[in-house]
Amino acid sequence: MASDSFFEAVKSRRTYYQLTDDSPISDKKIHEIVDNAITNVPSSFNSQSTRVLVLLGEEHKKLWGEIVIPIIKSVAPAEAWPASEQRLNGFKAGYGTICFYEDPKDVAKLQEQYPLYADKFPQWSEHTNAMHQYVLWTALELEGFGANLQHYNPLIDEKIAATWGVEQNWSLKSQLVFGTPAGKPYDKTFKPLEERVFVHGAKE
Ligand SMILES: Cc1cc2nc3c(=O)[nH]c(=O)nc-3n(C[C@H](O)[C@H](O)[C@H](O)COP(=O)(O)O)c2cc1C
Repeated sequence: MASDSFFEAVKSRRTYYQLTDDSPISDKKIHEIVDNAITNVPSSFNSQSTRVLVLLGEEHKKLWGEIVIPIIKSVAPAEAWPASEQRLNGFKAGYGTICFYEDPKDVAKLQEQYPLYADKFPQWSEHTNAMHQYVLWTALELEGFGANLQHYNPLIDEKIAATWGVEQNWSLKSQLVFGTPAGKPYDKTFKPLEERVFVHGAKE
């Protein structure tokens, strides 16, 4: 079937929390995968509003060890910190992080160009960004990585921007953490399809 290999990839994408900092592929290949996603994933009105910051190896460790962990520690209630610290160290243990952004300039341009949809463009920008996240999550796992999706924005935005020269006004949406899997995904349950899929007009 034409879609079989595509759905093999879709089904095999899962959330992996236990990761090591080994990489099954070269950094050049990672860069190529990111370029491919950025080039080919669609965007609202072809706005191409998504930006990515890819942090590998030591830069990944810096993100979690020097930025996210201290910031979360400074705001976490003392009793919650040990569990948070363990979780955050799990992300630090990986090989890389992709930070996904939207450039508000591209969104504003669309709002000016198409005032009729002005109130919708921010939502479609979120959709655009999510499509990039999904494609890269799936592609990295096809290459042998495990990955998980995190959201420590906006607490970490400013420090990241200052550290890696990211435009201050880009809006950080999520952080995709990846590394070699060191454990299995949890057993996932599924709601009945009858509650979620409604088809009308199908021929026998
Ligand atoms: C839009 C979105 C946001 C998510 N946010 C988080 C998050 O902040 N932290 C986290 O650990 N997992 C996050 N996840 C992962 C989901 O919990 C996970 O995908 C879901 O439980 C299904 O498991 P699976 O990824 O193994 O299929 C997110 C997933 C999606 C699609």
